Amino acid sequence: MTSVRVSVCCAGAAGLELDCRQWVAMCGLLVVTAALGVGVGVPLALELRSSRLLEARLQVVRRLLREVPLIDGHNDLPWNLRRYLHNQLRDFPFSEDLSRKGPWAGNRWTHTDLQRLRRGMVGAQFWSAYVPCGSQYLDSVQLTLEQIDVIRRLVDKYPAHMQLVTSAQGIEDAHRAGKVASLIGVEGGHSLGSSLAVLRMFYQLGARYMTLTHTCNTPWAGSSLADDARGDVGRELAAGIQEPNGLTAFGKLVIREMNRLGMMVDLSHASVQTMVDALAVTHAPVIFSHSSALALCNSSRNVPDHVLQSLALNGGIVMVSFYNNFLSCSDTATLHDVIAHINHIRKVAGVNHVGLGAGFDGINLTPTGLEDVSRYPLLLAELARDRRWSSTDLKKLAGANLVRVFRETEKVRDDWSDRTPTEDWISMEDLDGKTYCRYPGT
Ligand SMILES: *[C@@H]1O[C@H](CO)[C@@H](O)[C@H](O)[C@H]1NC(C)=O
Repeated sequence: MTSVRVSVCCAGAAGLELDCRQWVAMCGLLVVTAALGVGVGVPLALELRSSRLLEARLQVVRRLLREVPLIDGHNDLPWNLRRYLHNQLRDFPFSEDLSRKGPWAGNRWTHTDLQRLRRGMVGAQFWSAYVPCGSQYLDSVQLTLEQIDVIRRLVDKYPAHMQLVTSAQGIEDAHRAGKVASLIGVEGGHSLGSSLAVLRMFYQLGARYMTLTHTCNTPWAGSSLADDARGDVGRELAAGIQEPNGLTAFGKLVIREMNRLGMMVDLSHASVQTMVDALAVTHAPVIFSHSSALALCNSSRNVPDHVLQSLALNGGIVMVSFYNNFLSCSDTATLHDVIAHINHIRKVAGVNHVGLGAGFDGINLTPTGLEDVSRYPLLLAELARDRRWSSTDLKKLAGANLVRVFRETEKVRDDWSDRTPTEDWISMEDLDGKTYCRYPGT
């Protein structure tokens, strides 16, 4: 037992390129602690040993996260601001420990505040401008504008801690300045009202990814619910309304326009056919802002292996979700389930194609060990025990992969700078049977 533990410790040392003497000291300490353990009882010895080693690994992780920003792909705090505070920030105590305050205390849907973001060494966060599918064909565009507004106001309110960022370089600059780089992602194509003009204006307002669908089809893209063939989709199909499975011709124009603008295409929540169609037409790498591996948990919200293989060719990334139901297909999961998903994506797609997209504040079941935004360093410290994970690999997972995808997306935009905006409107065929509340005749 002791010798096994020592070799784990030393394997970690090799992987992390630690100062050798530091590790010899750590391994020595371990042997002494283990020897003590014989006298005082095994459980206590195990505990001592793991906490001391853990602290050493955490120190290494903290150093890595000062060199490269830890980037999370998806956080739903903005929707909670709407749900609990009507987007009124005047009394929102973001700089205090929210787990003890007002509607946030004891609330299973909230995991984020400034203190915990700092403890978690979060370098960049994509804040989700999410609005529910129920607003499709109603006021989804207005609601999305209001969510972008609340993200921008939140960031402006804490200039010492947060900085609005709209470029890959911006992430690195904010990180160097000690701020949480704050980015905007629009979650769901229903936010567009099927208008490329709205897409362009979202870009102008700072949105740097758009998830093609949420839990509803849009007139131009199929959602993962289409794969489940239940819920709204089932009802609409039963009513004889035409539903897209993958991307329609207009859906492909949306991808082209996103490529031209430099907005990342997010395929979390999309149907498998939408994933396949998007990967076939995009000129830039795509992201999954919060999804896991379907081979380990057969949920339509996860990514199948054949898509992981295409993703490797495309250059994109899966940012692994921390939602128990997507990790273990049950209500309970642990940090080790997250590691299993990360390792599966690494095995099938490669270490350049995996990242982190917990989905905090939009989930009500979190893995043991990863309860809130303060816990990312623990995840990396645990991964660091595995000798396959060199410090370079850990940096890729933490954020370097996303920065690379973002830079490549910006390069497509720059290469296409002579292309003109797409002026097409969605076809009547795509809109068959759907009614938007709209001023007629224009
Ligand atoms: C996932 O489950 C569906 C049925 O719900 C099945 O058709 C499919 O083959 C399963 N996929 C895998 C990879 O197990």
